[in-house]
Amino acid sequence: MSMLDDAVDLEMPPDIEFPNPMPTDWTDKISRHRKLWELAEAQHYDPNTAIDWAALKADDFSERERVALAYWFAVNGTFENSGVPTFGYGMVQSYEQHQGDSTSRVLLTVARDEGNHDEMSRRVVETLLPGFPYRRSSGSAVEQRAANNLAWIHYTNSKYWGGYKRAYEERTLSAVMSPFIVGEAAASLVYMQTSKNARHPVFADILQHIGKDESRHFAFCNYLAQDTWGDLTDLERRSLTKNIKAAYVYISVVFGEPRAPFWKVPGYFSETHHEMEEIARGAGLGIIPRVDRDDIWRRGMLRVKSVTDRYGIEFPAVPELGIDGTEVPLTEEDLVVVSF
Ligand SMILES: [Fe+2]
Ligand SMILES: [Fe+2]
Repeated sequence: MSMLDDAVDLEMPPDIEFPNPMPTDWTDKISRHRKLWELAEAQHYDPNTAIDWAALKADDFSERERVALAYWFAVNGTFENSGVPTFGYGMVQSYEQHQGDSTSRVLLTVARDEGNHDEMSRRVVETLLPGFPYRRSSGSAVEQRAANNLAWIHYTNSKYWGGYKRAYEERTLSAVMSPFIVGEAAASLVYMQTSKNARHPVFADILQHIGKDESRHFAFCNYLAQDTWGDLTDLERRSLTKNIKAAYVYISVVFGEPRAPFWKVPGYFSETHHEMEEIARGAGLGIIPRVDRDDIWRRGMLRVKSVTDRYGIEFPAVPELGIDGTEVPLTEEDLVVVSF
């Protein structure tokens, strides 16, 4: 007999103060997130070795092409880069609110995926135009215009970070993260198609890796919706209709369409953006023509609508894509943050 076998009055520690990631809780609330986490682990790749980086050579492109490609990847990288803290913060919230082990784990992989997307974007920029956009001493007028556009995107993004963090003080994780479904739905479809169109193997490969990850991110949002949207309050449901429209309006900048009320940029912004896209397309990046892109956007939004319909949540009208729905006037407060 050891002393471990002696009966003793066990004393419990004081109660834990919440919100808190303690105590460890390995139970799942959303079982399909567990399968998704397993898939994320199985599909994980190392961005340093998964791409044939040696096949990307600055000398294969004209100076204008290098600027245009660097611009496109820097714009894309902006939303990937901010995706790391966005989903990372969501993961912290998930742990603190005990949203279930499977959900917290998937969020960890989403943040990691965004880090990989960001790294691939960074690497393209470093190879083609080292130091772009902020660490280059001189540069052509084209380059300066491209860098200026990026500065406006970075500034505008910065305005929504505080609101994102504050949103968690008033709303559930599901209510805050649900609008992300728009970006993930569009991104998974757009990147896959862009990858198919790409003529340069390195770009095709990068975009395919991103597209595959984004479809898992869409699945994350979809399962989250299916398990939690039935419990949203009326206020959260009404906000969701607005937030979905806000996410669509905001993301349109990636396609050179900065729209009110979120985007206040100089008049030359869109012109620069569209010219950059045109040059990058000519250089082998498979940027989709506008009509096809709108078609993909429509499919992405209808994918989201099929989820909102199931829970009786009103879908916003998107006349730009010919989608009927509820008219929602937007204010700057309707947007928290957008990453994909
Ligand atoms: Fe994503
Ligand atoms: Fe991403």
